[in-house]
Amino acid sequence: MELNNIIFEHDSNVGIITINRPKALNALNKELLEELSWVVNQVKQNDEIRALIITGTGEKAFVAGADIGYMENLSSLEGKKFSLLGQQIFSEIELLNKPVIAAINGFALGGGCELALACDVRFASSQAKFGQPEINLGIIPGFGGSQRLPRLIGKGLAAELLYTGDIIDANEAYRIGLVNKVVEPEKLMDTAKELAGKFVNKSPVILQLLKEAVNEGMEMELSQALAHEADIFGLCFSTEDQKEGMNAFLNKRRAQFKGQ
Ligand code: CAA
Repeated sequence: MELNNIIFEHDSNVGIITINRPKALNALNKELLEELSWVVNQVKQNDEIRALIITGTGEKAFVAGADIGYMENLSSLEGKKFSLLGQQIFSEIELLNKPVIAAINGFALGGGCELALACDVRFASSQAKFGQPEINLGIIPGFGGSQRLPRLIGKGLAAELLYTGDIIDANEAYRIGLVNKVVEPEKLMDTAKELAGKFVNKSPVILQLLKEAVNEGMEMELSQALAHEADIFGLCFSTEDQKEGMNAFLNKRRAQFKGQ
């Protein structure tokens, strides 16, 4: 697929997706979303890539939301289809078989904040800004924000952000648990790569199972989620990497995981 709005590179087992539509502050239109879906699918199938970083081009914006120009004249049905398209792609990211880090370099508003919410870990530049300003456009978040935000930071804090549309800075985002860490802009990518570097040294098959346990378990009642954890825990013992990990510990050597 020809990529007009995204840059994709990978190096040392880490994939990097850079949303690259600077003239509209990286706003998400249909073409960009389709490219994103295609790239995420490439990452899914490429065993060499063991962690993914998503960032935005430049220092101003991560993603300034869904494209307002594109949405202005949508019919009700088209609006729903656009929401379902964005939701589907963000779910592909959330459920990707490898960990995903959002390196939030600037504005993460509306669909941009929702994209970050679909990632496993969020690191922010000190210049990043966050918000779900949809209420001020006469819509509600359509790419998962009304659901993932309260699940991440709690209903009360999410209600304040969602109902006001207020924009908050990176330190406030850190205080309310929306991001894991805030770093100087020039350190953002290195910090994200450093974490990705830790992920790539783990067993990819066990990391995938762990991600499934976390994501699927979060959707379940605790008793059901614990049963699910026990199933996945049991499954780990069918892998060579479990044998290798435990044998390496007992023999005081470093484990060499094969992803099997
Ligand atoms: N859609 C389309 N274009 C956008 C955009 C968006 N979400 N955000 C910014 N742009 C465009 C601007 O229209 C402008 O284009 P022109 O140069 O052609 O005029 C360009 O990007 C630069 O933006 P500004 O001139 O506005 O830059 P600024 O520094 O003055 O302000 C900003 C920056 C505060 C981020 C402001 O651009 C802004 O408020 N953007 C919209 C944010 C927003 O409301 N996002 C939510 C969208 S709705 C959504 O995402 C729904 C959903 O859940 C699916």
